[in-house]
Amino acid sequence: MSRSARLISLNANAKRSFAIAGRKNNAASLFKGNCAKLISSIPTNSIDIVITSPPYCMGKEYEHENSVEEFYEAHNLLLPEIVRITRPGGSICWQIGNHVSEGSVYPLDYAVFSILQKMKNITLRNRIIWTFGHGLHTSKRFSGRYETVLWFTKGDRYHFDLDAVRIPQKYPGKRHYHGPQRGEFSGNPLGKNPSDVWEIPNVKGNHTEKTEHPCQFPVALAQRLIRALCPSNGLVFDPFMGSGSTGVACLLEKKRFLGAELEPKYCRIAMKRLKDANEGKAKIRPLEREIFSPSPSSPLVAVPSHFAWIGSKAN
Ligand SMILES: C[S@@+](CC[C@H](N)C(=O)[O-])C[C@H]1O[C@@H](n2cnc3c(N)ncnc32)[C@H](O)[C@@H]1O
Repeated sequence: MSRSARLISLNANAKRSFAIAGRKNNAASLFKGNCAKLISSIPTNSIDIVITSPPYCMGKEYEHENSVEEFYEAHNLLLPEIVRITRPGGSICWQIGNHVSEGSVYPLDYAVFSILQKMKNITLRNRIIWTFGHGLHTSKRFSGRYETVLWFTKGDRYHFDLDAVRIPQKYPGKRHYHGPQRGEFSGNPLGKNPSDVWEIPNVKGNHTEKTEHPCQFPVALAQRLIRALCPSNGLVFDPFMGSGSTGVACLLEKKRFLGAELEPKYCRIAMKRLKDANEGKAKIRPLEREIFSPSPSSPLVAVPSHFAWIGSKAN
């Protein structure tokens, strides 16, 4: 079957949505509606990995809950169901930031952790810091430049392919100083562990992945999780798919995808992005691309004369 022949379906029938995602050769099944309805029709132990970013209750146009209490209550109902549908050995990745109200910051991953850590067989494996160089400038606290991904597994025998996500060694020429291997190269030739701090540009302004959706996460973020945590031909579920970034990552990594989205206009955006990805036309910023750094001769790095105080303060 050619790549473009794989089926991408969008419909509002929960049972059908899951059934389509379950077929091995199909690419993606998008459910237009409330994820709670879809989840209630997903059989126990049937999803390999859940990757999502829920609404943060920050007054975005798509948000219905607006306080931390509502976020907590909604997650108290949702997370046990997410655990139920995840198969033993599978993963749950919850990407989340802070709720900020009247100058007070509440880390929402704390709420997610406090609910999931009480559940049998659920273990937090990493609290990944996703950091990015740009965002709002604040004047009464330090500007926020990270969000987190909580990665939980269901059970202790879980899928984790570190070799699939290794990154180039910082000092490939480094050698052992002591011991029997003295003088030999010390690094793993396959590359190093990418660590739990991931710098990936956020999807703002003129980012190539930007759509009308106000809060996309980068495809690369989901791609690294899928490469490391999803078995071959696994089924990935995003209950709050928004513009379909997780789905695009799935198609690039040849995994099956099931997503839910309440707002019809975001469903349409997701459908378009997934079709493009299925035809090899996805507009993405590759995971491997280095962070932009202007050359020393660029006007961007020339210090204007009225910025001269920076040098004097550093001395
Ligand atoms: C933070 S955004 C996700 C963005 C997504 N990761 C992307 O890259 O585009 C959360 C999404 O969840 C959707 N949503 C909110 N409540 C929902 C529900 N009960 N069921 C399905 N989708 C919901 C919102 O419309 C919004 O698009």
